[in-house]
Amino acid sequence: MEQIPVFKPLIEQEEFNASRQALELGWLGMGSYVGEFEDGLKDYIGAADRYVAAVSTGHAALHLGLLAAGVGPGDEVITPSFNNAADFQAILATGAAPVFCDVDTDSLCIDLDKAEQLVGARTKLIIVMDYDCILCDHDRVADFASRHKVRVLHDAAHTFGSKYKGKMIGSFSDICMFSFDPVKTITCIDGGALVLRTRDELRKIQEMRLIGMTQPTTVMYQNQRAWTYDMKSIGFRYHMANLHAAIGLAQLGKMAKISESRRASCRYYNQHLGDLPEVTVPKTNFEEITPFLYYIRVPESRRDALRSYLKERGIDTGIHWQPGHWFTLFKECRRGDLSVTDRVGKEILSLPLHSLIRTETLDRVISGIRDFFEGR
Ligand SMILES: Cc1ncc(COP(=O)(O)O)c(C=O)c1O
Repeated sequence: MEQIPVFKPLIEQEEFNASRQALELGWLGMGSYVGEFEDGLKDYIGAADRYVAAVSTGHAALHLGLLAAGVGPGDEVITPSFNNAADFQAILATGAAPVFCDVDTDSLCIDLDKAEQLVGARTKLIIVMDYDCILCDHDRVADFASRHKVRVLHDAAHTFGSKYKGKMIGSFSDICMFSFDPVKTITCIDGGALVLRTRDELRKIQEMRLIGMTQPTTVMYQNQRAWTYDMKSIGFRYHMANLHAAIGLAQLGKMAKISESRRASCRYYNQHLGDLPEVTVPKTNFEEITPFLYYIRVPESRRDALRSYLKERGIDTGIHWQPGHWFTLFKECRRGDLSVTDRVGKEILSLPLHSLIRTETLDRVISGIRDFFEGR
């Protein structure tokens, strides 16, 4: 019986061709493909008034985004505890401290009412993360930020290709980040990007991603380098490689079919699992959404048994995520009431979702879950 993984990248002839071309070019580091990928992202999200910087990973994008916003030692950053570990580590890497906020029980995005109670004199920035198929209330986020005079880092690692009230994700936030890691909606093998409002922030990011060197991007994007340069800021080796950008470009060209397929699969899951009393499906019809993962919630007491039952039938499941405040490293961090997060962390379960996944595969997963709960 074929094993069904939780994630499976869509690698087709286009990606093989793109890789070959990038390798044949012989300029393996940051170069022309990176510039093309940044332009492609900007076009795709329709952000003509924004600046895009591609970097090596989503984690690097988070770290640099925080630094560009001026986050540093002594500052606090409010983040949902129900978030990816990369966000917590990026905050620590700046010298700032994470402050853990709860999530809303339906959207699983940050609970802004609870965030109000966490704002203090040291709060510099709030991270808001779209948990996949239900987006944050970004109008309220903007209002929150302007009232409290804090910056916003919008973690859109899950929502590349989605729209909020008709606007593409990435086109309207203070600072927005994407991840193109191996399992994301589109992959660069590894990669990330920042969408910024100002040329000045772009310049900072361009230097920081190249270990602080003031190498002109215009030169590098012609697959050349300047041999002399200055160094004015702290830097990291966080640039994106040409080969990765070439793969990203091939993937970007397929967004329409990727988006359509993933949305249809999630609707199918909702339709065929939504009536089970023990299963809570996402409360959305996926309109304007390009889903990255499909999750359900099941009673805490049944989750492990369900996972084992599915595993025996060759079906993998995932857990996104263990909340941040459960980890040893973050136990002492300031936090508010995290009762929803504590519950959701024990109930959440990710089901297999791949671009162009076959209906027979979805049916196998659905039957497995139905059989488990219906005692077959
Ligand atoms: C919400 C979220 N933010 C950030 C990241 C980090 O991205 P990357 O894996 O590209 O470093 C991930 C990765 O899974 C994520 O899910």
